[in-house]
Amino acid sequence: MNMAINPPGKQRDHELQVFFQDVITGLSRKQKTLPCKYLYDERGSQLFEQICELQDYYVTRTEADIFAHDLLEMAGAIGADALLIEPGAGNCEKAEPLLAALESPAGYLPMDISPEILLAAKHRIQARLPDLPVHAAVGDFTTDTAWELLPSVNARRRVIFFPGSTIGNFDPDQASALLAGFVSRLSPGDGLLIGTDLDKDPVVLERAYNDSDQVTARFNKNLLHRINTELGADFNPALFAHRSFYHPLRRRVEMHLVSLTEQMVHIDGECFHFQEGETIHTENSHKYTLEGFRQLLQQAGFTPIRHWADTSNHYAIHFAEVH
Ligand code: AVJ
Repeated sequence: MNMAINPPGKQRDHELQVFFQDVITGLSRKQKTLPCKYLYDERGSQLFEQICELQDYYVTRTEADIFAHDLLEMAGAIGADALLIEPGAGNCEKAEPLLAALESPAGYLPMDISPEILLAAKHRIQARLPDLPVHAAVGDFTTDTAWELLPSVNARRRVIFFPGSTIGNFDPDQASALLAGFVSRLSPGDGLLIGTDLDKDPVVLERAYNDSDQVTARFNKNLLHRINTELGADFNPALFAHRSFYHPLRRRVEMHLVSLTEQMVHIDGECFHFQEGETIHTENSHKYTLEGFRQLLQQAGFTPIRHWADTSNHYAIHFAEVH
């Protein structure tokens, strides 16, 4: 075990406390919910990587195609001497080709909650681009503490890189607040390069979140296994079914776990009752029109400059500047 990158016991205890509180709060609601960030423990992250490879899940592949096709134009829009900041960078695989395409980039600052993946990626990028200053910050990018870990680096402009349609996990209000938070950490003229899944045929959407290999079902149910292991709960995952559906008015895919029977679940002395058919809402994946997302950018303090999409208009990458 590498002591430098594993949180000390106290930190771990605190994280478990917060996880426990979030689970208790979510399951006490009328519509039971669990925050989607908890889907991504080690097993969940592996399953998500498998989802990204699925034929039914067009999102990752389509975004990668747009990057491959339009990388030079994106690098041109960002311009020379830019500092790239990536909240939730993970393995930094999307930033690497972009950094290689940028003209004399001033540096790269990836942030992620998973130190192992982040530090491995940092070393890989430093080996490929030895002149590029790379500083990794381990932390949750929705908190101030993670941003306070970022060193100040001289640059002509700073650009936040937020690919993967991660923004889709946030409700429009939260998304707006997150983008406004980005603005507050930037200055006029700084940039944002952000990927969003586009609204489309519900058949295509529902197939992507109900894949024929059932990987998404395992990804969803893994949350119950995680709560059992980490919080000592007695969920029987076999008594829950995966359900994803498109909600046209809310323009989002909702992911739920449906209780297949009336049952009780216990978590550390707390007891939760489920009716047959009652659900736990585990994730939202919001879909935007080009215009709808431009409005969101505007409201938050960004001026949309341009976007790149695939020929089917399934996915878009927007570039915007702080106004
Ligand atoms: C990681 C938020 C982009 O919403 O498409 C994939 C997560 N959930 N299948 C998405 C996810 C189920 C994914 N994002």
